[in-house]
Amino acid sequence: TEMGRAFVYVILGGGVAAGYAALEFVKRGVSQGELCIISEEPVAPYERPALSKGFLLPEGIELVLGTRVKSADVKRKTLLTATGETISYKILIVATGARSLKLEEFGVNGSDAENVCYLRDVADANRLVNVMQSCAGGNAVVIGGGYIGMECAASLVINKTNVTMVFPEAHCMARLFTPKIASYYEDYYKLKGVNFIKGTVLSSFDFDSNGKVTAVNLRDGTKLSTDMVVVGIGIRPNTGLFEGQLTLEKGGIKVNGMLQSSNSSVYAIGDVAAFPVKLFGDTRRLEHVDSARKSARHAVAAILEPEKTGEFDYLPFFYSRVFTLSWQFYGDNVGDVVYYGDMSGSTFGAYWVSKGHLVGSFLEGGTKEEYEAIAKATRLKPEIEDLDELERQGLGFAVKV
Ligand code: FDA
Ligand code: NAD
Repeated sequence: TEMGRAFVYVILGGGVAAGYAALEFVKRGVSQGELCIISEEPVAPYERPALSKGFLLPEGIELVLGTRVKSADVKRKTLLTATGETISYKILIVATGARSLKLEEFGVNGSDAENVCYLRDVADANRLVNVMQSCAGGNAVVIGGGYIGMECAASLVINKTNVTMVFPEAHCMARLFTPKIASYYEDYYKLKGVNFIKGTVLSSFDFDSNGKVTAVNLRDGTKLSTDMVVVGIGIRPNTGLFEGQLTLEKGGIKVNGMLQSSNSSVYAIGDVAAFPVKLFGDTRRLEHVDSARKSARHAVAAILEPEKTGEFDYLPFFYSRVFTLSWQFYGDNVGDVVYYGDMSGSTFGAYWVSKGHLVGSFLEGGTKEEYEAIAKATRLKPEIEDLDELERQGLGFAVKV
């Protein structure tokens, strides 16, 4: 009686993980009409880091775009869309990613102002570019010292905007960088004219009569006049549809080594999934593109060829590129830190050693071969007896492991 369609496989979400899952389905062979992707975004899945229009979509897949799923029933195996359609599945892959945290969640109003920008999807990116162009030569305040803050600040500088970064921690990229690593990037940014205000948060905006933000007021009493604001204060995984239906952990949907949730017909991949990281023996939710791509491929392999597919064995990998800088990090940033290379030059790095083993590696300005070497060394988790010796060997240690 109700309007609806049925598919064998449904991918919920149209981001990076969804795109890679679809590619893997097609590579392994899926029949016409078996697979459907439902995405709130009006466009096919694309590579979010580039926010380019390099769509990830192969043919033969049912695409339900511009359509928000508003509820899910994992017992009945159905999804209800905002347009009133019921879509049923045999296997569901949840790839709903995450949403940007809003300033309102920290008690500050003004997210809707025309010159306040967030960055998560292609619509946000187009808006940010327009606002940035209209402010060239002017001032911008960047709220947050994480990935979005650092990468957007660099873009703003390149577009001849004066940038002030504001964040609560003592240094940038606090989730990953040590104070020493952070100081390298902060010093570089300062030479590019970026002003840092650390250890405080914003308390309110001043608006003009059109509702545009004209100044940012900080909790420490500072007032910063500005032409625009970019906000990057973290994300929250989109788990809402499944709360009370699936087991959650680390803010995401808990899955096993086959990317299968507490309901055996539901898999989760990408930013929304909390999966076991074998290498470290715990469950993690990673907010990075490599993890989205690989968890997507693994889930599809597990669905189509379960007997041939082992447990997901993922080495965490994060990277960023800004100005002429480029770094990569593999593994885990816990334990003692050993630095190597020349921090006054363009190539340096660090190792993290925990319980007598190498667990994490960072490298700025490496070659492709050097990055491959630190990745390989980190995956092997070699025993480290002498930190001084590791420091002496530096990058050479990873190269010869
Ligand atoms: P993603 O957010 O990509 O996709 C989620 C999809 O689900 C969206 O299409 C959304 O509309 C849809 N959706 C959610 N709820 C829905 C509902 N109820 N109904 C229908 N659809 C729904 N990482 C990295 O390692 N290196 C990098 O350089 C960068 N750079 C970068 C730049 C920018 C600007 C951003 C925003 C992010 C990055 N990242 C990154 C992070 C990386 O992009 C991120 O980890 C992946 O996009 C995660 O992929 P997912 O598919 O899990 O979520
Ligand atoms: P983030 O978690 O990297 O950083 C959030 C930052 O917000 C913190 O560093 C902190 O400085 C700041 N913050 C927290 N509370 C605040 C408050 N009340 N007021 C002001 N600042 C506050 O998140 P993000 O930078 O928003 O990035 C969003 C997502 O996009 C992340 O998942 C990230 O991994 C992803 N991303 C990744 C890359 C990359 O891997 N190169 C690039 C862009 C975005």
